[in-house]
Amino acid sequence: MCGIVGYVGERVAGARPLEVVMGGLARLEYRGYDSAGVALVTGDGLVTAKKAGKLVNLSGLLEDAPLPLATAGIGHTRWATHGAPNDLNAHPHLSEDGRVAVIHNGIIENFVVLRAELVAAGVHLASETDTEVVAHLLGAAYDELGDLTSAMQQVARRLQGTFTLLAVHADAPDVVVGTRHDSPLVVGLGDGENFLGSDVAAFIAYTREAMELGQDEIVTLTPESVSVIDFDGNAVEPHRYTVDWDASAAQKGGFSSFMDKEIHDQPQAIADTLLGRTDLSGHLVLDEIRVDEAVLRQVDKIIVIACGTAAYAGQVAKYAIEHWCRIPVEVELAHEFRYRDPVVNAKTLVVAVSQSGETMDTLMAVRHAREQGATVLAIVNTHGSTIPRESDAVLYTHAGPEVAVASTKAFLAQITAAYLLGLYLAQLRGTKFPDEIAELLDDLREIPAKVQTVLDGADHVRDVARAMKDAPSVIFLGRHVGYPVAMEGALKLKEIAYLHAEGFAAGELKHGPIALIEPGQPVFVIVPSPRGRDVLHSKVVSNIQEIRARGARTLVIAEEGDEDVLPFADEVFFVPQTATLLAPLVSVVPLQLFALELATAKGLDVDQPRNLAKSVTVE
Ligand code: F6R
Repeated sequence: MCGIVGYVGERVAGARPLEVVMGGLARLEYRGYDSAGVALVTGDGLVTAKKAGKLVNLSGLLEDAPLPLATAGIGHTRWATHGAPNDLNAHPHLSEDGRVAVIHNGIIENFVVLRAELVAAGVHLASETDTEVVAHLLGAAYDELGDLTSAMQQVARRLQGTFTLLAVHADAPDVVVGTRHDSPLVVGLGDGENFLGSDVAAFIAYTREAMELGQDEIVTLTPESVSVIDFDGNAVEPHRYTVDWDASAAQKGGFSSFMDKEIHDQPQAIADTLLGRTDLSGHLVLDEIRVDEAVLRQVDKIIVIACGTAAYAGQVAKYAIEHWCRIPVEVELAHEFRYRDPVVNAKTLVVAVSQSGETMDTLMAVRHAREQGATVLAIVNTHGSTIPRESDAVLYTHAGPEVAVASTKAFLAQITAAYLLGLYLAQLRGTKFPDEIAELLDDLREIPAKVQTVLDGADHVRDVARAMKDAPSVIFLGRHVGYPVAMEGALKLKEIAYLHAEGFAAGELKHGPIALIEPGQPVFVIVPSPRGRDVLHSKVVSNIQEIRARGARTLVIAEEGDEDVLPFADEVFFVPQTATLLAPLVSVVPLQLFALELATAKGLDVDQPRNLAKSVTVE
């Protein structure tokens, strides 16, 4: 979950390596912010600077004690695994002679054995990290082999666990070497300079030309060249691609936080995810899904695997896909899926949903599903990430880079992509007529404008959120597709406002949770459209009455024109009329805004909430 940047360029020593590395770290800080550090290769050897806490602390240190000009550099922002988040454990770590510097994302699982070996050989380890053993091993391997790439190859083969590693050596001023195993690393290709990053955001300000580094590969960067080998030393020809978003997409664009910007990006994220999905006759053509149609026709069960917000998107998908395609859909947290004994076979379609494409729990579940013979389709936002590479097919969401740790626009884009998948399967299997599919696609194309309407009318929800900043807990209720929306509303509040919040299926209330209702308890209720299923609607209205009768403060999200809720609502937030199955795309937006405003009113850092990281690359 740490952020990693590498740069080499300009043979004449200059300030650019530090500028590029610090700029990249600023864009990757969402990955971890326990400490930050840099190592630069100068004409006189290596220099490092590192500091506990957010990147701003390191910037302060560099202002007080500027580093010399350099030819190459590496930088790291940490999400602590081994050892407290202090200056000593911050990366980079150095070899005994101080001539090799290493940064690392992941966990070296055999580090205890390796550490013992080093200690027995008389090596002094300065930190508590698993990373430092790599620095010492690389130092020794370089002394033996005289070449950083060969040293990396020798050491990488000894490591177990997950790792992205970057290293520089004092004797190789124009070289940065990187490698990866179950952890991301991408290469940015420049003119007379080259870049490495945990994701393309690290170098998007400088180049959009990128290269994927595959599993168990080692990349060697000089200003003029990029060469890749595998762990056995065989040359590899990596896949190049052009990043289709620009640096401004990763900036705040005038909003006070990335989360606020990303909530406002949502109409575009949905529209972009829908773009180019039909042919001239209006048929859905999902080009990225290169699974044989015969295989998809035979599918008799779908299992959605995902974590957190992405799993709630999967739950929405379940309601839609089962209704449109008449295929049973199970939704399972990826970390649970892998460790039970799921019934999966060649007729199972496993759909892995992930914004980052790097979530280790989901990746491991993907591998497990494929081993069992299932076809795996990934719904992913980040190009070049690991999950789509390891899946049979991919349906990319086009939400653009999501920087705030709490997911918002990726959630709506995931739901949109899942609807596309459902309609595609319905078309393929003939469970919906073409005109029905066309009508649903038209409804979907109207959603961006509806989300915009919710955003434009957000003052009321913001006022209510500010007034509730001292509330001790909030409950969220929903039925049908409103149920995952309720859970997502609660998750947003937990993560960024540190407020106890729970989402329940409204029908479950009477089976226990209603005991939580006491006078003044705030309860959000997501009310389905009265035009869709009147039974569903009237059941939820009854639920509002039940909690109101027990003193709850009811905060109701209802469709415009739904007068039935008015007598029982302390506050109503109206959203535009939307087809029942598509409603989550609009009804979740007030909940996102509510959490954002309440957390802001509490003075919290909404983009980088405590204890979390954007990309969860540990199990
Ligand atoms: C919540 C949130 C997380 C992620 C989860 C999966 O706001 O962001 O719950 O949804 O960690 O991440 P991805 O989608 O990258 O696999």
